[in-house]
Amino acid sequence: MEKYATYPSLRGKTVLITGGAEGIGAASVELFCRQGSNVVFLDYSTTSAQALLAKIQSIPGAAQPSFMHCDVTDLARLKECAAQTIAKHGGVDVLLNNAARAGAASRVATADVTPESWEDDINIGIRHQFFLTQAVLPSMRERGAGGSVINMGSITWRIPTAGLPVYALCKAAVVGMTRTHAKEFGGYGVRVNSVVPGAVATQRQRDEVMTEGYRAEVMAAQSLKRDILPEEVARLILFLAADDSSAITGSSYVVDGGWVSDI
Ligand SMILES: NC(=O)c1ccc[n+]([C@@H]2O[C@H](COP(=O)([O-])OP(=O)(O)OC[C@H]3O[C@@H](n4cnc5c(N)ncnc54)[C@H](O)[C@@H]3O)[C@@H](O)[C@H]2O)c1
Repeated sequence: MEKYATYPSLRGKTVLITGGAEGIGAASVELFCRQGSNVVFLDYSTTSAQALLAKIQSIPGAAQPSFMHCDVTDLARLKECAAQTIAKHGGVDVLLNNAARAGAASRVATADVTPESWEDDINIGIRHQFFLTQAVLPSMRERGAGGSVINMGSITWRIPTAGLPVYALCKAAVVGMTRTHAKEFGGYGVRVNSVVPGAVATQRQRDEVMTEGYRAEVMAAQSLKRDILPEEVARLILFLAADDSSAITGSSYVVDGGWVSDI
């Protein structure tokens, strides 16, 4: 028997996920499909997206997601993907603003930041979260059936970690944006929360960041002395998307094995 929760309120819901081809995004795509949700995911890696589509096709009973190629830093394309999703499915019930430049590429120390790298890092760090919410909100509002927006943050600014200041400031901003959007959209019944992961053992983290030394640091800092897996983050995302969390908005939930534990 399945060990984890089934959420009847997620069945048939339209869920839009950015950066859904790998890591936490891919785990989320899979778990929403297992719940019978109607998932549309955006990513700029077609190869990874195809591998995920093939994987989900082999899961008995899972709904099949749709993939749209999109670089989320291209706002025209992002808006087009939102409009096509809304036109095809009649609206979006759940938006997971997940894409980011995780791994080694996010590490640019303050001394090395240029106006160009700053703009680039802000564009992938937070700009698309704001504008995709803006694009999707009218459909949630018009349908009057509520809606759940989930923004991906990180504990990095809260620890705090040195060496990736622009990534960190974007992730701090996610908490503020979540609170202000929750206030702004609460009158329409739309909830906005953020999920704040610690060190999550995605394939990219294992390949690029989790050296033996760094893993030892993580294990010393966490209360749980084991790797935190992408699906453990995705299970929190399911809860925040489902009606089970109907009174929760403006909140940020840490899932870090007990490193900082709160925001
Ligand atoms: N893994 C961790 O330890 C960790 C910790 C804290 C926060 N987070 C956050 O969780 C979220 C997911 O991170 P992850 O570790 O799963 O990342 P990942 O690198 O494993 O996956 C990111 C996905 O986003 C896609 N992507 C990246 N840039 C894109 C772009 N410009 N346009 C479209 N798609 C793009 C990638 O192709 C990939 O499929 C991010 O917001 C990240 O900041 C991750």
